[in-house]
Amino acid sequence: MKKNIALIGFMGSGKSIVAKLLAKQLGRNLINTDSLIVEREGMEITDIFSIKGEKYFRDVVEDVVFEVSQGEGLVIDCGGGIVLREQNINNLHYKSTIVFLKTSVEAIYNRVKNQTHRPLLNVKNPKAKIDEFLVSRLSSYEKADFIVDTSEKTIDSVVDEIIKSTS
Ligand code: S3P
Repeated sequence: MKKNIALIGFMGSGKSIVAKLLAKQLGRNLINTDSLIVEREGMEITDIFSIKGEKYFRDVVEDVVFEVSQGEGLVIDCGGGIVLREQNINNLHYKSTIVFLKTSVEAIYNRVKNQTHRPLLNVKNPKAKIDEFLVSRLSSYEKADFIVDTSEKTIDSVVDEIIKSTS
């Protein structure tokens, strides 16, 4: 069985760009859990949060993660909140090598400060919010099989590191 490579980490940790390059270099199919949800629900993540609520969104995430975790040989780009339910990590562990892209608050803030598509960060003091979320989620992210610190690395070197650790 060819295991999946599942990327986890906070918003702005570079999961999507790294996942794209990784899938291209390894010739694997790429799945982005948020894109699947947008497609399935027919609305953007911000609208799902504001119209249907966060719990509804987390329920859909759980269903989608369960489904994609049955696949093989995929690169899975996971939304940052999948660690909020332990079941998601357990499901992914079944057939995936989980890689946590660890990033500093500063680096995350610089990457997300001009973006508006993340409902949880559309607040007055996003930096404090990032810090609060990271502190509360860190031990869950660290349940990954590998941790790659991305704060001061190029995307190419992160991709190389992941290929080396998962092959
Ligand atoms: C979330 C992360 C987002 C998206 C949603 C909630 C979170 O995904 O799923 O806004 O709770 O951390 P990205 O990490 O891909 O931005």
